[in-house]
Amino acid sequence: MFSAAQQAAIDRLWNRKREQDGLKLPQAQRHRNLEPDSALLLCALATALRARDLVEIGGSSGLSTIALAEAARRTGGRLVSLEIEPARQEEARATIESLGLAPQAEFMLGDAARLLPLLGLMDFALIDCEKDDYARFLDLLKLRPGAVVAADNILSHDLGSYVSHVRAKPGVESVTLPVGKGLEVSRFTKGT
Ligand SMILES: C[S@@+](CC[C@H](N)C(=O)[O-])C[C@H]1O[C@@H](n2cnc3c(N)ncnc32)[C@H](O)[C@@H]1O
Repeated sequence: MFSAAQQAAIDRLWNRKREQDGLKLPQAQRHRNLEPDSALLLCALATALRARDLVEIGGSSGLSTIALAEAARRTGGRLVSLEIEPARQEEARATIESLGLAPQAEFMLGDAARLLPLLGLMDFALIDCEKDDYARFLDLLKLRPGAVVAADNILSHDLGSYVSHVRAKPGVESVTLPVGKGLEVSRFTKGT
């Protein structure tokens, strides 16, 4: 469960996203935040896994950042949030600071293709960026044995090619959960 302040921040981001969707703004002008149910699930999952090194690819204005930074707070870990769009990352940073989660979150600005090779081993990753990039960004992650990777928009965007890609990896246990826009949750028993 999120704190009242965290839930209020999630609600504010989500209500804005729904308003923008209603106005049918072009994608570049919309904040495509994670569904609140997915945020709750990912926070619970990362907490239960005792994930200490977490990364999100596509932090945007920070809805998923709240969930994963809160998980990091509970586990004594740290979230790295990758985002290519400066204004969105600044908004996420301000929200995380206002919630007192700044010690749990590091923000890296730029293309995940360049940033991911700079990171060490991870216990938990969220992939939530442009859909064509999911498979190649998965391949750039370095994962500890038992790490979990969650990828959003699997059902909304019919990302069967990503599902096939991740399930073909050795030692992967993977399932599509019909939560939010559809999450592929994949456990890497051997790491990568
Ligand atoms: C669906 S939104 C992420 C929503 C976010 N997880 C949340 O819950 O608020 C996708 C984000 O990925 C970012 N993005 C797209 N390509 C990227 C890349 N190559 N590297 C880093 N971020 C990228 C976009 O700028 C956008 O903000």
